[in-house]
Amino acid sequence: MSAQDIINKYIKFFEDRGHRRIPNSPLVPENDPTTLFTSSGMQPLVPYLLGEPHPEGNRLVDVQNCFRSVDIDEVGDNRHTTFFRMLGNWSLGDYFKEEEIPWLWEFLTRELGLPKEKLYITVFKGFENIEYDHASEIIWKDIFERENLEPKVFADETNWWSRSGTPEQMPAGEPGGPDTEVYFKFDDVKHSGQCKGDNPTKCGCGGFFEIANSVFMQYIKGNNGSFKELPKRNVDFGGGLERLLAAVEDKSDIFQTSTFSSILRSIEVLTGKEYLGNERTFRITADHLRAAVMVVESGAVPSNKEQGYILRRLLRRSFDNWHVLKGGDLAPVIEGVIEEGSKTDPQLKTNFERIKNTILEEHSVYKKALEGGKKLIEKELARKGVRTGDELKGLVEISADLAFKSLASYGLSPTQLKSLGYDFNEQELAEKIKEHQGISRKGAGKKFSGGLADHSAQTIKGHTATHLLHQAIRDMLGTKIHQSGSNITSERVRFDFNFDRNLTHEELAKLEQKVNEKIRQNLPVKFEIMSIAEAKEMGAIGLFDDKYSDKVKVYTIGPSTAPSKGGQALGPYSVEFCGGPHVNFTSEVKSFKIRKQESLGRGLRRLYAVVG
Ligand code: ALA
Repeated sequence: MSAQDIINKYIKFFEDRGHRRIPNSPLVPENDPTTLFTSSGMQPLVPYLLGEPHPEGNRLVDVQNCFRSVDIDEVGDNRHTTFFRMLGNWSLGDYFKEEEIPWLWEFLTRELGLPKEKLYITVFKGFENIEYDHASEIIWKDIFERENLEPKVFADETNWWSRSGTPEQMPAGEPGGPDTEVYFKFDDVKHSGQCKGDNPTKCGCGGFFEIANSVFMQYIKGNNGSFKELPKRNVDFGGGLERLLAAVEDKSDIFQTSTFSSILRSIEVLTGKEYLGNERTFRITADHLRAAVMVVESGAVPSNKEQGYILRRLLRRSFDNWHVLKGGDLAPVIEGVIEEGSKTDPQLKTNFERIKNTILEEHSVYKKALEGGKKLIEKELARKGVRTGDELKGLVEISADLAFKSLASYGLSPTQLKSLGYDFNEQELAEKIKEHQGISRKGAGKKFSGGLADHSAQTIKGHTATHLLHQAIRDMLGTKIHQSGSNITSERVRFDFNFDRNLTHEELAKLEQKVNEKIRQNLPVKFEIMSIAEAKEMGAIGLFDDKYSDKVKVYTIGPSTAPSKGGQALGPYSVEFCGGPHVNFTSEVKSFKIRKQESLGRGLRRLYAVVG
């Protein structure tokens, strides 16, 4: 059974139970300033979990590509990957535990054929005023009893899920809830210390994989820190495809499953090294390259900011490890990763050249940096009379300061320094890096605060202003112009579009005027749920790349006017796909001012604006 077979079975299973398939959302989110990447299936569905009606109804199923940069340092063991695909089924105030848990069991044991005795369950043990999840526990125990199996159900306080972690870590406005998790046990993993391998919550040996997680998303954190019930009780199920595949193939090393095996083989062939004995180095090279391929596909390019920065970090770690293996040309590995990934994400093939070239260009930059860093160190050492270069024998000791300088100026990582033959006080260097990261993180803290803090009134105004700006730009520059990205915070609106030159002062003033005129006209903002065909008919703008969704939510700004004598009926000012939310009338936005424009290269421009 391949990864794609698992996807097909899963979608069919839930479609047979009244679910509608919704498309994968971009890995680099379009309209969520609270995060850099889509890291769970829940992220694009937050407005609907909070109560907005979803155009496809209350039962949804999807496969969401996810990237978790927080897991970068975890990669190297048998089960962590930064990029993964998450199978998801959703009840938006529809079914709950009584249906979800038996369905999950049926899917895992009948459809995937997982051996029942290898499945272990955990449920929520309770936290402050949120109760122990007895209901889930009873449902599971009944299932085990019916199957004549000893009930392997454990209660744990960590069985809670929200985008920002534990109940304490959640910001006000963030939804979350208790969860029940399914673990698969691998018999070939040795347990050490106190661990006897009989309780997944106590095992850190890698003998259990969490393969499924049903979150009962029913709470929202209030301003005073206590939890309130959401208007509707939801189910957010997430199952990592790669881990499910590991369970199906009974491989306790995710990298030895069929999704990774061809990539590992190509690394073996190209480097002449074996995977066994070099697992960590192979895993980091493969995982990071695979994640980078997906992130580039989603539109990011390596840079020193935001997504581009994470991408650069990911690639550099991958290159570091590739160089430790003494790998040469990376192109064949990238090609292999794209080939494998396109089995489930066919659009990778369409973007083959762009992805490959972006990564190869970064590899050249990396190799140049390596040379630069080496020269910097050699110069410093020469000043001190240390002989280096080709005569170098054994490791040469350098100061942590010099190591840090080469890192800060040329991006030389500790792994690279070692592979170049330098030794240094690792702890001292780690402290310097930490200190530096602490400073950089201060600025980013706000951005990552997560939650819906940013569904503030100001952000909602920003959304509506963006629609007005989008229409005004098209009115001025033509309908070939479209939004290529946007990012809205309570401080400002950022809007990207395709155009090959900077706008003049006059043009910027005209745009601003137009948007303000529409604000003053106090136009009504409404949405309707309709089919894609109807939306196209209406001339709605926005991305038509929804592969599976038939229904979309379309926001209109301004009324349709009746035909004037002999004239034509006029449609609304703006018609655009969007999940919302928006203001009800444009005058709520108050005012709109463009602050700055930037060129993003490749025929793309960026505007920054503020709303009143
Ligand atoms: N949202 C849950 C998770 O990401 C299902 O694990």
